[in-house]
Amino acid sequence: MSLSHTDYLNYKTRESPVLHDWLYDSVKQTQQNIDSLSDTQWHTPVLDIVNLPTWELGHLTWFHEFWVHRLGRASTPSCFQNADELFNSSLITHSDRWRAKIPPKEDLKRYFNRVMQLSFDLLQADKLSAEQKYFLELSIYHQDMHNEAFAYMCQTLQYPCPQNSSVIGYVAKDFSATGKYLNFPQQTLQVGSQKDGFFIFDNEKWQFPLNIKAFSVSKLPVSNQEYLEYLQANLEVEKPKHWRRENNRWYLFEFHQWIELPLDNPLIHVSFEEAQKYCEWRNERLPSEFEMLALLESDPAEWQASDLWEWTSSSFLPFEGFQPDPYLDYSQPWFGGSYRVLKGYSRFTPKRLRRPQFRNFYLPTRSDPFCGFRTCLKEI
Ligand SMILES: [Fe+2]
Repeated sequence: MSLSHTDYLNYKTRESPVLHDWLYDSVKQTQQNIDSLSDTQWHTPVLDIVNLPTWELGHLTWFHEFWVHRLGRASTPSCFQNADELFNSSLITHSDRWRAKIPPKEDLKRYFNRVMQLSFDLLQADKLSAEQKYFLELSIYHQDMHNEAFAYMCQTLQYPCPQNSSVIGYVAKDFSATGKYLNFPQQTLQVGSQKDGFFIFDNEKWQFPLNIKAFSVSKLPVSNQEYLEYLQANLEVEKPKHWRRENNRWYLFEFHQWIELPLDNPLIHVSFEEAQKYCEWRNERLPSEFEMLALLESDPAEWQASDLWEWTSSSFLPFEGFQPDPYLDYSQPWFGGSYRVLKGYSRFTPKRLRRPQFRNFYLPTRSDPFCGFRTCLKEI
């Protein structure tokens, strides 16, 4: 197997105006995120599941500069002192990010503005090489992912929502006339992404046919109402962290405020392990990542999107013929079976990242991201 890492040079590149709009959008979100923080909120506690905001700002700027303007070469110096030692996530452990001498936020904002302006200028002049365009698209998606992680950090730390977004107002489609489950026949599914398309992540390489058995999947994600029934029938099961009961009414903590639990809404902030236990109780099962792919590619009128990343039963593993792309640590270190694949997207995921073939992955204990699930019948 060749490890030349040159596949990415064959991906189709986007036009400069498209990349300009996407970068503008992602940068605006990052600015909105950092502007939402009070001075004390910049000092987050040392927790495995959150980042230090100053480190995160330095890191996403460093990532962009390293790939787009230094073409992944450590020998080309950064414009920011000690950037490689401080902000390369492969070199500095999570807990060391709190111990390191991270420069003041004003310096990091200047670094961010300087690097982004450099890219905007090159895009406006249409002067990026095909390789730089690949790295720019990678850096935009990387920044989008950090923007979403920032939003679930705010939920974890009970900070206000950095975007004008709420679970209030979600309306589920009514499938009472057509039944709860959507039936899929036995079929050959095309899994993974094709070689002649636009940017993909390395864990999508390469498309292959997969025979899957017939299955029935719930048209709706598991709702708060359904989970409440499960809790009431299993008093030993712990309630979700963001739920509270008072005078026989249930409340949901959304970012920094309690709201009445919206019963028809999809259950949010549930771990894979909790989802598995719920499935066992219902005598149902989680869909595999391939079944979720079939659902995501089917007619959206026939099922209800959850606006959440949805847990699957699949371990995060490479497809046959996997080769890492230049950002070696995107997928490879996390293969091995402990991470689980999630499919779909959350309401904090920009449209440019919402693709059926996209594979997200988290440890099965995580419930802090915007995740939920739906179930499949065990036998059909
Ligand atoms: Fe990162």
